[in-house]
Amino acid sequence: MSRNINVLLIEDNPGDARLVREALKEASDPGYRVEWVRRLSLGLDRLADGGIDVLLLDLGLPDSQGLATLAAVHASAPHMPVVVLSGAVDEQFAVEVVQASAQDYLVKTYANRHVLTRSLRYAIERKRGEEAMRAARVLTMGELAASIAHEVNQPLAAVVTNAEAALRWLAGVTPNLLEAHAALVRISQDGNRASQVIRRIRAFLKKGDGQAAPLDINEAIQDAVSIARGELVKSRVALRLDLASQLPPVVGDRIQLQQVVLNLVMNGSEAMSSTAEGSRELVVTSRNVAGPEGRPAVVVAVRDSGAGIKPEDMNRMFDAFFTTKATGMGMGLSMSRSIVENHGGNLWATPNQDLGLTMQFTLPAERANPS
Ligand SMILES: Nc1ncnc2c1ncn2[C@@H]1O[C@H](COP(=O)(O)OP(=O)(O)OP(=O)(O)O)[C@@H](O)[C@H]1O
Ligand SMILES: [Mg+2]
Repeated sequence: MSRNINVLLIEDNPGDARLVREALKEASDPGYRVEWVRRLSLGLDRLADGGIDVLLLDLGLPDSQGLATLAAVHASAPHMPVVVLSGAVDEQFAVEVVQASAQDYLVKTYANRHVLTRSLRYAIERKRGEEAMRAARVLTMGELAASIAHEVNQPLAAVVTNAEAALRWLAGVTPNLLEAHAALVRISQDGNRASQVIRRIRAFLKKGDGQAAPLDINEAIQDAVSIARGELVKSRVALRLDLASQLPPVVGDRIQLQQVVLNLVMNGSEAMSSTAEGSRELVVTSRNVAGPEGRPAVVVAVRDSGAGIKPEDMNRMFDAFFTTKATGMGMGLSMSRSIVENHGGNLWATPNQDLGLTMQFTLPAERANPS
């Protein structure tokens, strides 16, 4: 954990560069190793050599200006977390910068050690979270096609029904304009709903592929937890990790498995929003178990003390688009289940004796010596 964070600083003003380097020199645990170049072209070369964890970028450079600088970085290093350094306080521009794929934006005069280190770490975590979401969404695209068709079909059917109604209200000697108007409003709403579904789906159609490698599931858990930590603190959720120390490695895609844990943790936290503040506890455990035919496996459990779920929704909760939340998409559990099953495991829910739910998934351990 106490590894150094390697920062590349692309900044043409030596005075500003010195301030940043001094500020970061004082930081420890993690420490920061800063490399500094003055031109975008040199910075891109350096990024290509690898080993950089996060980029601190001045947008006004001798060889590139403004958002074009950010675009150039994104084109040649799309996975790099970026914090933009600027001389000006300009909210609107900051929003544009962050939307144009930087993770954060800092005004130089405010960039003391505290602000800088927080922003750099936040950028790294935020980027990791974004990539995790993307990887997990791609995987299940094919499998979700049927549910998507269903989801779009509903508003379309409603559009047809309401259009027929409107035609009827307009027909005859004295058309009922009020009713016709109401039907047209419903058509417009349903049309918007369908296009919203489509817009969300398009976000899934991004690149990425599951990669299988032996990994320590505890590390994936810790990654997920570090991404979720800010949310948990904000929601006053106490988190307890109880991870077995001698786990066999599992084979899989670390980002996808991380995404599964992240989904379960976020759901657990959200389920506790109506639980009394002192009693919001989330416990994540990992254990060694015997899988099918006595083969070694690991089981990961995420236990909350939340509202739980109605018995009739116990199975539906895994359906794509099933949600009880105002802003939920209902995708978390269906994606998680397909990821786990693609890894040869199972994901299920059990109500707790007292409060809340425990979500668990198993993964087969790597075979020691395939023969
Ligand atoms: N730990 C839990 N406790 C109680 N209910 C849960 C829990 N986890 C999931 N649910 C229920 O299952 C539903 C589906 O969860 P899922 O993660 O698939 O979607 P979501 O959280 O609603 O939206 P999102 O796509 O943003 O994850 C939730 O809306 C909620 O009703
Ligand atoms: Mg969810």
